[in-house]
Amino acid sequence: MSFHIRDKIKGEDNYYEKNDTIGEYTIQQLLGEGRYGIVYLALDEKNNKCVVKQLKKNAVKKSKSKLFYEELILKRLQQPYFPRFISNFVDGTREGFIMEYMEGEVFEDILYKDRYRFSKEEILGVCSQLLDIVEQLHSCNIVHRDIRLPNVIRKNPKELSLIDFGLARRMNDTSHTKEEDYWYIGDFLIHLYYTTYRKTSVFERPWYKELELTPEEITLLRRLMGIDETYGSITEIRQQLKKIKTIN
Ligand SMILES: Nc1ncnc2c1ncn2[C@@H]1O[C@H](COP(=O)(O)OP(=O)(O)O)[C@@H](O)[C@H]1O
Ligand SMILES: [Mg+2]
Repeated sequence: MSFHIRDKIKGEDNYYEKNDTIGEYTIQQLLGEGRYGIVYLALDEKNNKCVVKQLKKNAVKKSKSKLFYEELILKRLQQPYFPRFISNFVDGTREGFIMEYMEGEVFEDILYKDRYRFSKEEILGVCSQLLDIVEQLHSCNIVHRDIRLPNVIRKNPKELSLIDFGLARRMNDTSHTKEEDYWYIGDFLIHLYYTTYRKTSVFERPWYKELELTPEEITLLRRLMGIDETYGSITEIRQQLKKIKTIN
């Protein structure tokens, strides 16, 4: 996903342009933009790639403390699945932080730009990797709450990473639960299953009727999504995955 850097001030935010510097970091291009941040690719003084996230002013005004969760969480996460926190910066009226650049392509581009079609084997592989990543995250008592196609990067078929901790929170028993991330994994996998789907009926049907899934796959997805009894642990989800693989 790449855009040209706009040389204008949009809303209240003063965007960086190519070759602007923040200390030792030189801006290269805009990578993306969400409600809370403007994300750029930059180079450090040794020409290593890194990512600059400039916080949006409106969002800072509304909920400054929430925006800093992302920094706090990245600082706590040390596993290679997640971008390493490098530093924060205040640059005149602009502020934000710098993190490690995760090599690869986001699933959104793999699906919609490359139009890649995932085989069942590949989908189960992605599932197993997402489970490893989420297990690490949950063991640090953090829920991501936004595991979607633009927030998962694939470096190669065996190495995925999870980015964008803007909505991530400390896990608790009421609002931020592990089941929330299970739901997102289910939804993520359904998107991958749809890459090989060909419409055969004019009638709208739910995904579990439309997609060609085995009963074990339907069970996995329905339980991840909380349509049927949700899973109690990642271990339990892995057992279901194993069942699917042996039957396939
Ligand atoms: N650490 C990173 N490494 C590589 N690419 C990144 C990284 N962080 C963000 N990106 C890219 O920038 C896009 C937007 O960043 P993200 O953190 O998801 O912010 P938001 O969704 O709030 O705009 C991502 O979809 C991805 O393409
Ligand atoms: Mg994002």
